[in-house]
Amino acid sequence: MRVLITGAKRGIGRALFDACAARGDEVHGTAREAASGDPDGWHPVDVTRPDTLRMLGESWGAKPLDLLVCNAGIYIDQGESIDTGYPSDAWAETFAVNVTGVFLTVQALLPGLRAARGRIAILSSAMGSDARAPGGSYIYRASKAAVLNLGRNLATDLRAEGIAVGIYHPGWVMTDMGGSGANVPPAVSARDLLARFDALSLATSGCFENHDGQPIPF
Ligand SMILES: NC(=O)c1ccc[n+]([C@@H]2O[C@H](COP(=O)([O-])OP(=O)(O)OC[C@H]3O[C@@H](n4cnc5c(N)ncnc54)[C@H](OP(=O)(O)O)[C@@H]3O)[C@@H](O)[C@H]2O)c1
Repeated sequence: MRVLITGAKRGIGRALFDACAARGDEVHGTAREAASGDPDGWHPVDVTRPDTLRMLGESWGAKPLDLLVCNAGIYIDQGESIDTGYPSDAWAETFAVNVTGVFLTVQALLPGLRAARGRIAILSSAMGSDARAPGGSYIYRASKAAVLNLGRNLATDLRAEGIAVGIYHPGWVMTDMGGSGANVPPAVSARDLLARFDALSLATSGCFENHDGQPIPF
């Protein structure tokens, strides 16, 4: 299986990259600091820079892509004050990475996905659920709700082309983003998520699932 994962140098993306490599997948990763033309399958991509995504799309071409994992994401508004926090540039930056970046990544790799009738996995978050709304982190929550909506609409549009789209919560994972309170090791999240991606089909396209397979909200 040929896989491409965005933001694969650290965190959940790195764990997914390692798990795919360990089972013999042909795995490609993107990283902001990767060198152009890296022979080991690394592609230099900043998802807020359309030129880097255009370069990725051009170098990838129509090579069949079985699985695209849109993992790159940021969470920069944790703990902010409703009175003084959430500045407009933080909204713009977060939506550029977590929403626009996902759409532009999918768009750049559509020829490869079409060639393989591949699958798209989007890392959203349970914090994007509007059924569970404990408050705070307005920017991150809104961005993850938006990317859930994006994924569900992509699932509708790409169904006729045989491309399934799943949206996932990886758990509260011990990464730079997850922080010290997190309770799921990255390798466990990656193992569970790969099982979800393997099970994704046109019958389940548009699903919003926890890493353990439970539908969200749970
Ligand atoms: N950890 C959790 O508990 C948790 C829970 C729910 C959802 N998620 C979601 O899971 C995904 C991965 O989270 P994580 O915990 O692994 O986060 P992380 O440890 O902070 O890693 C984030 C990754 O995204 C990449 N990235 C950030 N901005 C980028 C940009 N502009 N262009 C390209 N790549 C960029 C980073 O690349 P650099 O190395 O270049 O910075 C890094 O590889 C995110 O979408 C996150 O929202 C995480």
